[in-house]
Amino acid sequence: DYPEFVKIVEVGPRDGLQNEKEIVPTRVKIQLIDMLSTTGLSVIEATSFVSSKWVPQMADHADVVKGIQRVPHVRYPVLTPNIQGFQDAVAAGATEVAVFGSASETFSRRNINCSISESMLRFEEVISAAKDRQIPVRGYVSCALGCPHEGRIEPSQVAEVAKKLYEMGCYEISLGDTIGVGTPGSMFKLLQKVMNDVPISALAVHCHDTYGQALPNILTALQMGVSVVDSAVAGLGGCPYAQGSSGNVSTEDVLYMLHGMGIGTGVNLDKVIETGDFICNALGRRTNSKVAQARNRT
Ligand code: HMG
Ligand code: MG
Repeated sequence: DYPEFVKIVEVGPRDGLQNEKEIVPTRVKIQLIDMLSTTGLSVIEATSFVSSKWVPQMADHADVVKGIQRVPHVRYPVLTPNIQGFQDAVAAGATEVAVFGSASETFSRRNINCSISESMLRFEEVISAAKDRQIPVRGYVSCALGCPHEGRIEPSQVAEVAKKLYEMGCYEISLGDTIGVGTPGSMFKLLQKVMNDVPISALAVHCHDTYGQALPNILTALQMGVSVVDSAVAGLGGCPYAQGSSGNVSTEDVLYMLHGMGIGTGVNLDKVIETGDFICNALGRRTNSKVAQARNRT
């Protein structure tokens, strides 16, 4: 049985833009988020409070958080890898954050410069400070279906990290197919395992579309009861220079599939397509969304 309603977590302004080589002007990022805010989306990941030496594109995080027009009932989480990021985020006015761990030891070191167990200590600090302020914390597990350095990742490794994040207080755990290598077969096995440790209602899937498997993987997750899907407007993302990296599944394509199946999202597809046109024009890019390509031809 499929869920009747799916919550879309729009990650375009963060995951989609973070790898752009050219620095995107802050006003473009703000306009992107403001346009997304009118589409009916309930969660828009706005930016990340990470080191600008690591991710120069996110250096304007505070200005983005301060500059957006907050719409009631829309939430704007930001990524916070450690307590410094958390404090900066709160000072800028963020009211929801996300911590991001990995199921792969090598990816953890390359991405956040510490081991998985060290990262858990950092996240504990963030989550405890967030609790004091009643700030909800989302948790990511990267490399859930494979790692660019280690290759295959066992579902049990993912389950262990997901369980820890959930027990520490993350309200939702997003399983990231960081390099898009999963298939419905590996997604099924992953969820079968992780569901034993984290309730299915608290699980989200975060699929990059590198191998064109994102929609079938999402469909598989829906069949297993997942009702939260991460996606990016226009399928933004992917670094043209980094092998094995590509954008998230496009929000437009996910919406088209869900609505076609009679599943509610509360999101207006036409408005998301318009927003995709805006950001693709601003970036000088062609959209990665098949649905937007089809609609723009007619
Ligand atoms: P580090 O160098 O180990 O940090 O980086 P440190 O604690 O040793 O501090 C070194 C310097 O960084 C100091 O500055 C700190 O102040 C500064 P200095 O004294 O040299 O001038 N610093 C910070 N600056 C700004 N914000 C902070 C912060 N913390 C320390 N929060 C760190 C550790 C985690 C900061 C670094 O590795 C980093 O920023 N990594 C971020 C990487 C990233 O953003 N990756 C992309 C997001 S994850 C993703 O895309 C996957 C996901 O989409 C799911 C999926 O697809 O699977 C979520
Ligand atoms: Mg991602």
